[in-house]
This record gives sequence, C-alpha cells and structure tokens, in this order.
Amino acid sequence: MNCLEVEVAGLKFRNPVLLAAGILGMTAESLIRVAEAGAGGLVTKSIGLKPRKGFPNPTVVQVSCGLINAMGLPNPGIKTFSEEIREVKRKVKVPLIVSVYGYSAEEFAETAKLAVKAGADAVELNVSCPHVEGTGEEIGQNPELLKEVVSKVKRRISKPIFVKLSANVTDIAQLAEIAVKAGADAITAINTVRAMKIDIKTGRPILANRIGGLSGPAIKPIAVRCVYEIYERVRVPIFGCGGILNWRDAIELILAGASAVQIGTAIAVKDLEVFRTIPKGIEKYIRRKGFGSVKEIVGLSHRL
Ligand code: SIN
Repeated sequence: MNCLEVEVAGLKFRNPVLLAAGILGMTAESLIRVAEAGAGGLVTKSIGLKPRKGFPNPTVVQVSCGLINAMGLPNPGIKTFSEEIREVKRKVKVPLIVSVYGYSAEEFAETAKLAVKAGADAVELNVSCPHVEGTGEEIGQNPELLKEVVSKVKRRISKPIFVKLSANVTDIAQLAEIAVKAGADAITAINTVRAMKIDIKTGRPILANRIGGLSGPAIKPIAVRCVYEIYERVRVPIFGCGGILNWRDAIELILAGASAVQIGTAIAVKDLEVFRTIPKGIEKYIRRKGFGSVKEIVGLSHRL
C-alpha cells in the first residue's frame, strides 16, 4: 500500500509533495521534468488573461535566510500557455494545477475557464502576490473582493478551486473562511512575505521593484502558524507552502494541518532531488512512528 497517497478535493496525489507556483512552472518541458523527478502534483507559474513582461532586472536577490523576488508576474498569457497545459497532460499523469491571477473577478474567471478548457485538473487563485499593483494580495486582503473573485470563478468552472492566501494580513484564518464560503475547495498557505534588501554601498534598494516577497527558511515558522490557524477554522484541505527545505519541514506543516505541501525555493537551493528525498523522508517518519498513512498525521498537533 502507498502510505503517501493523498486525495485533495477529489484529486489523487501519489505523494503529498507538490511543485509550488513560481519556480519551473512556465513551460511544459520544465513541468514534465518536475513530475519525472517525483513530484506528487504540479502548480504552474501564475498565468493571466494577457501576456505580461514582468519587472525589469534585478528581480531576485539572495538574503541570508532565503530569497526575495519581485518578478512581476511575467507570463505568456493563457491562450499561449494552453499549449503547454495540453503538452503536460499528454505526457504525465500527476494532477496539474494552473495558478491564475487577474485584475478583476471577470479576468480571474475567464483565465480559469480557459485553463480548465486546456486540461487543468484544478486552478489555484493567486490572491496573494505581494508586489504587483491591482492584483494579488490587494484582492486577497480585501474580504469583499476575495468573495467576488472566488464566487465568480466557482460559477464559471466545474474543477476544484484552490485559493492561495497571503500571510501579510491580520487574520489569515478569517480570509480562509471567506474563501471557503465563496466556494474554495482547498486553501494554499502561504505566499511570500513582503520584504526588501538595500545595497549599503549605494544606498539603493536592490530589486528594480524595490519591494518583493521573501521565501525560504525564514518564512517557514510563519507558514506553520498560518496553516495551524486555518486548520482550526475551515473544514477544507490545506496545502502548506513556505520555506520547506527538507522532510522535517514538510512533516511540521502536515502536523499543523496541511494535507499536502508545495515546494518552491528549495528547488533553487537543492535541485529537483527534493522531490525524491522529501517523500522518502516522510514515508520513513510515518513508518517509524507506527502510522499507516500520511493522512493520519494531518493536523495531529491539534489533537495532542
Ligand atoms: C512574481 O511573479 O512576481 C511572483 C508571484 C507571486 O509572488 O505570487
């Protein structure tokens, strides 16, 4: 029996370690490589209705505790990206989740509809990008807009909707509750945390956009707290995301309440190897602790 298999919103994942939106998710070729490396599922880079160039360089800077990025949502637009979706679906069996963003509920819904038409098994709504004006966390931090976006997408598509939330809020669990009431089938927590780095020689902010989003080990304790709080408030599954570098980090998020986890920055640090080592480490932990399946430890910290 595969003790790592999980089901989220009707989708079966061979293991609970997925690719997070943002890294390696822009072409069919790289998504297929991630699936072949062992990922349980794939989330694409965020795609909009129209092509977008993104911000000028520098868009990423390394800091002692992770990476700060402000890519600016570069993407080819959903019409062009549909061909990549079809190619991934032809080549690999793992669930493909297309991350979508928009500047209005209508744009989110139309992009989601086209993603599903091309073969997406689910969509993840990016209402949490911390540095692009008019979208991302500006929507996810606003209860009315969040409700409008999620319910409009819900009316437009019949596939599961995951909502990726930002930790840059006072009460993430309240926003999760709003998203679920509006139709979210799962919550992803968290996106990057607003951050910046200044070059002390020149005195200038390093990123062209000045402010970006921090990912990596520094944000893992924030992700653990957010997943823990969301788990107490909603009954839908949670994808834990933020700073997971190894199987111990993944277990921590699962104990906090995540049914599965998503990996991003670890790929930049450790390569695709993480999609083999993290599931293997989770499996060993499950067996050593005497559990039959990863499902038994989801949210276990709440019951101890
Ligand atoms: C970006 O493309 O700027 C990152 C997207 C995100 O943080 O959601």
